[in-house]
Amino acid sequence: MFTATVRDTGSKPELYADLARDLGGLVAGERDWVANAANAAALIFTTLPGLNWAGFYFVKDGELVLGPFQGKPACIRIAIGRGVCGTAVAAARTQIVADVHAFPGHIACDAASRSELVVPLWRDGVVIGVIDLDSPLPERFDDDDAAGIEQLAAIYVAGCDF
Ligand code: SME
Repeated sequence: MFTATVRDTGSKPELYADLARDLGGLVAGERDWVANAANAAALIFTTLPGLNWAGFYFVKDGELVLGPFQGKPACIRIAIGRGVCGTAVAAARTQIVADVHAFPGHIACDAASRSELVVPLWRDGVVIGVIDLDSPLPERFDDDDAAGIEQLAAIYVAGCDF
């Protein structure tokens, strides 16, 4: 049995080092990309404090399609270049949005969301999707969160067959 609880003690790098170890354990021995995304979303959502949504979108037929997540039901398809998620894919760069209300074209899936972090999933030099984290707290995410989630994204991609 895996037990994960919200962690709000210790430094962020320590927290993400623990998360990286835990995700490595979760994906070990399983190559299914849906199953591993589901467990990764659950691990992130139940461990990181101050989140109201954590999950995946995958590039499919030229747009982003909703993948496994934790939180309220979300918009299913996002055009590349639209919203924070579509911008992360178009720019091929992590997006840290301190105030979603100030981000042109932000797509509101949960009215409670105030800040957002979107990290591309890289496979063989191509962005195949994103990990998206939403928070009801403004300015919830910083460079440590971006680096930590980028590491989790790499562990996830390396642990799956697509
Ligand atoms: N806010 C995102 C849409 C996805 S939801 O946050 C889950 C965006 O602007 O791309």
